[in-house]
Amino acid sequence: MTRVALVSGGTRGIGAAISVGLKAAGYTVAANYAGNDERARAFQEETGIAVFKWDVSSYEACVEGIAKVEAAVGPVDILVNNAGITRDAMFHKMTPQQWNEVISTNLTGLFNMTHPVWGGMRDRGFGRIISISSINGQKGQMGQANYSAAKAGDIGFTKALAQEGAAKNITVNAICPGYIATEMVMAVPEKVMNERILPQIPVGRLGQPEEIARCVVFLASDDAGFITGSTITANGGQYFM
Ligand code: CAA
Repeated sequence: MTRVALVSGGTRGIGAAISVGLKAAGYTVAANYAGNDERARAFQEETGIAVFKWDVSSYEACVEGIAKVEAAVGPVDILVNNAGITRDAMFHKMTPQQWNEVISTNLTGLFNMTHPVWGGMRDRGFGRIISISSINGQKGQMGQANYSAAKAGDIGFTKALAQEGAAKNITVNAICPGYIATEMVMAVPEKVMNERILPQIPVGRLGQPEEIARCVVFLASDDAGFITGSTITANGGQYFM
């Protein structure tokens, strides 16, 4: 029986590349999304990957959504916590709403998505939790006090849960992408991108979503069974931990 992978935010950007990469590697894939019905429908038609709509910032929605996924395709063996948002603002201009939205989705979303699949993984004695953190959780980024805090939290979550999962053959890892050519990164003001960000990337280009997807496919595989609690940094040399 093929293993089942669930990818949050799995119909656009890095998440879409992850869904497609996991399907190509032989997994049964379900892709969660929160808002864009039109893009999700097109993604399902193009890829044949089933899509499921709910908001990862709600625990109840995650419990309900994951139950639907499991009824449709079977128990989740591999969870990819990819869903994430930005609400960038310099801290003196940042509103409580901008703070709370980012923490709820990018950090609390990991609890909300992982908790409902954790018990089943423990019972079955196999699991993979792979969370997409960020370079900006490692190094901090001006204009992103909310996002950097959440993404750093994702790394702490990963290290703690890895210790709990190890005896049950569940690995828990994080990937820290640098600046990847997605809509999220393209929303950065052009001047900031050209003058402040690109010159800091030694390889001289943005990353491609598929370059992150390949990291996920590796961490999901049996070959990566001895890797847990780790952070894979994929940022074109912009920052070393
Ligand atoms: N790196 C370096 N400097 C930056 C910067 C960055 N990422 N972002 C902003 N700055 C600088 C600006 O160049 C500017 O400096 P100068 O005054 O010397 O020109 C200063 O900070 C203030 O910026 P703005 O004039 O643009 O101020 P603003 O209040 O109008 O906007 C902002 C602030 C919303 C943070 C806007 O600058 C912005 O969106 N910056 C991009 C922030 C960023 O890097 N976000 C990452 C998004 S991609 C992502 O998050 C994915 C991932 O995981 C990597």
